Amino acid sequence: MTTVTLEFADNLAIIDINNPPINATSHAVRSGVMDALASIRQNPAVTAIILCCTGTTFIAGADISEFNQPARAPLLPDVIIALEDMPVPVIAALHGTVLGGGLEVALGCHYRIAHPATRLGFPEVNLGLIPGAGGTVRTPRLIGVENAISLISNGKPITASIALDWGLIDHITKSDTNLQQAAIEYARKVATQPCPTPLAKRNIPDTKQPDWDSLIAKTAQKARGATAPIIAVETIRDQFALSADQALANERQQFVTLREGEQSQALRHIFMAERNVAKLPTTQGVTPTPIKTIGIVGGGLMGAGIATACLLAGYQTIMIERDEAALAKGRENVASHLQGSLKRGIISQERNDQLLSQLHGNTDYAALAPAELVIEAVFEDLEVKKSVFDAVARVVDSTAIIASNTSYLDINALAHSISNPERVIGLHFFSPAHIMKLLEVVCTDGANPQTLATALAFARKLGKIAVPTGVCDGFIGNRIMSAYRKQCEYMIEDGAYPEQIDAAMTDFGFPMGLFAMQDMAGLEISWKTRQRQAATRDPNERYVALGDYLCEQGRFGRKTGLGWFRYDTAKSAPQPDPDVKRLIEQESARKGIKRRDFSPSEIIQTILATMQQEGDKILNEGVAHTADAIDVVMINGYGFPRWRGGPMFMKTKSPVSS
Ligand code: COA
Repeated sequence: MTTVTLEFADNLAIIDINNPPINATSHAVRSGVMDALASIRQNPAVTAIILCCTGTTFIAGADISEFNQPARAPLLPDVIIALEDMPVPVIAALHGTVLGGGLEVALGCHYRIAHPATRLGFPEVNLGLIPGAGGTVRTPRLIGVENAISLISNGKPITASIALDWGLIDHITKSDTNLQQAAIEYARKVATQPCPTPLAKRNIPDTKQPDWDSLIAKTAQKARGATAPIIAVETIRDQFALSADQALANERQQFVTLREGEQSQALRHIFMAERNVAKLPTTQGVTPTPIKTIGIVGGGLMGAGIATACLLAGYQTIMIERDEAALAKGRENVASHLQGSLKRGIISQERNDQLLSQLHGNTDYAALAPAELVIEAVFEDLEVKKSVFDAVARVVDSTAIIASNTSYLDINALAHSISNPERVIGLHFFSPAHIMKLLEVVCTDGANPQTLATALAFARKLGKIAVPTGVCDGFIGNRIMSAYRKQCEYMIEDGAYPEQIDAAMTDFGFPMGLFAMQDMAGLEISWKTRQRQAATRDPNERYVALGDYLCEQGRFGRKTGLGWFRYDTAKSAPQPDPDVKRLIEQESARKGIKRRDFSPSEIIQTILATMQQEGDKILNEGVAHTADAIDVVMINGYGFPRWRGGPMFMKTKSPVSS
């Protein structure tokens, strides 16, 4: 396939890039554009050049797979300078996602026009990088320093209309206009005007500079250990003392250093892992069953969150509850989730109303008949869930998929409780289900490839990162969490305090420590679970009863103002509590444990080693298909710092640096 084509038509030159899936600036694209520019220079009749892309998007960035190989000329910065130096105007025709190197190419053009649905941005910081082909130099010269900092340091793309407001693009086409045709008309218009001064030859705007120190401090706080956002701000700052050429060289230097660094390697690893984790040999070539209608049994916190996710993805959704009052509550829960999406600007009032009209509530299971997929989200009890499965199986088509949202029960037992167990799957959502990206797709022993392929396609339609797992207690995520929670509790009895463990975790990059997280979730649910499990617990296994003692004193966590920590107001930060300290020390003494000190590094090493050991077991048992799947789960569901790449990735690298 030709990657870059050049066409001459009526004194215009049209360069078209065709490099699916995202028209990345791979070596073939860079050299193809360079060759095209050389040919155009030989043709004095050309009055303007259009640069566009075939497929769903303009260039959406560099080819990440090339980052691990030695760089091959022509490099992107040189291609952009060549575009900028053309004697006639170059018009970039933008659509899809104009990201990273794609936006840098567009900034090397003299004009930019875009389809209204285009999104533009610099996602490099999400990959541990900064723009490396002039983005930090050309952007502030075009849209000012403040908007450039926002675009480059937070990694989030903006819409075409904001881009037009900021001056990042020059024109938005009508949505039904052919983009290339619009670019041709625009080119004819600007061909008669003098070529604008290339951005890299302009001065940086002479406006008041931000308070860099406080900006960098704020960026660092938000980045929680990731370095790229800070370096992005510093690189923009540093060019105030440099010429444009020096600034370009400085940016490149920073980019190359970051590209070789551990954080970028980790972030690139997780980026690709998230995209590959659901590619299973068993589902290759299997066409997922089309789904229009989803049934959800249970309108509580989880059920309503799942229903909201389904509505937002465009499904007709039927919610079943045991009585009218519970149904009304379920509907209220969904409405309040949708209100949240409305407030965040994700949906309009009109869409909100339309989505609510697609939610059909009922107290009779018979209403589930049209559903091609039913998800139960009822109380975590095997017998309760079995009776729900039985009721569902009686009313839906024999090929309809029946899924459980259980977080730890034996789904194989559930599957075998009904006919056609090959259509049973686990869909373990994380709360709030309409927001959290992670979805563990639990493959039962008997599930067939059709069921699995359909569940994975459904997850993708919901916008989730689906991680296939096998059946075991806790699947991938909860199983690893309960293993390291146990170790943390041992450390508490042996000499550490909750605040020390939490501080070690947040210093490592977790948004919250284990004990503050338990306080937030509420301590009473796991207390009840432990009470249920008491009779079957291995008497020889070390058992830490501190969580039970807290609950016995009514300390259920943040909502009661007391848990592992104390909370003076509903919003105040967790405070170490002398009563808890005393309780812990008494318990150590009662067990005859001589308490000792734990350093932050020992705490983190212990947590990491436990995650990795449990991860190895999960891999050996075939519960996770790859080590990458474990990293994807821990990062997207359990707050593991993304820039560290996940516990299994860290295992392949040097020992932990805390
Ligand atoms: N380099 C190489 N491959 C890439 C890539 C990149 N920069 N970006 C995406 N891909 C691949 C994905 O691996 C996937 O491959 P597959 O079809 O074999 O699974 C395919 O392109 C589609 O990507 P995906 O993310 O699944 O599609 P999407 O439509 O949800 O999102 C993008 C498209 C471009 C918005 C998204 O992929 C993205 O954000 N890419 C990174 C952009 C970026 O960071 N650019 C700067 C690099 S310095």
